[in-house]
Amino acid sequence: MSESGSPPSPPPPPAASKPMPRPAGAAVPRRPRPPKQRGTDLEPPRKPAQLRRRTLSWLSLSGVLLAMTGCTVKFFFPRALFEPPTTFKVGYPSDYSFGVDSRWQSKYRIWVVRDAEKIFVIYAVCTHLGCTPDWVSSANKFKCPCHGSGYDSAGVNFEGPAPRPMDRTAITLGADGQIEVNVLKLFQHDRWDDEDSFLPA
Ligand code: FES
Repeated sequence: MSESGSPPSPPPPPAASKPMPRPAGAAVPRRPRPPKQRGTDLEPPRKPAQLRRRTLSWLSLSGVLLAMTGCTVKFFFPRALFEPPTTFKVGYPSDYSFGVDSRWQSKYRIWVVRDAEKIFVIYAVCTHLGCTPDWVSSANKFKCPCHGSGYDSAGVNFEGPAPRPMDRTAITLGADGQIEVNVLKLFQHDRWDDEDSFLPA
């Protein structure tokens, strides 16, 4: 305490310490790195449009994967092929009157024909390139819609590019009296007198 009775003055603040001069050639200390950032830290928050796009992408990808799976599964299942039978019955001889009967054309691709002496079956395949001709009753001929070949009621070609008459199928009488047709056994015109190529009328 001073003699005058006034309180003692506080001690002066210490002088600011100056950085020590770096000696020549000394290594410069590095500044500390900022904390490491990860990918998610760098992404800005997603907007609704982005989320919608991403959802759509996932949906598309799922659709493609689903379709591919479906195709793979389908591959392992055999495909049923529905073809008309090659041997079948077409009723009794008395069901057919004189002329060309085209009732089986779309189902079996045949015409049943009765003339004065016999019943025979024409296989409805054009001998040019295999189209199915139509029976044109008003003109009394078969007419091929593809390139215009014409055949008479016996199946003999007379116009257009067809190179020969249409074939006839094997025809027999079954035990039940019905006509049985076999389209796997065909007769070209030089064999139209063969036993199985007609039935007596
Ligand atoms: S396929 Fe019949 S005329 Fe050509």
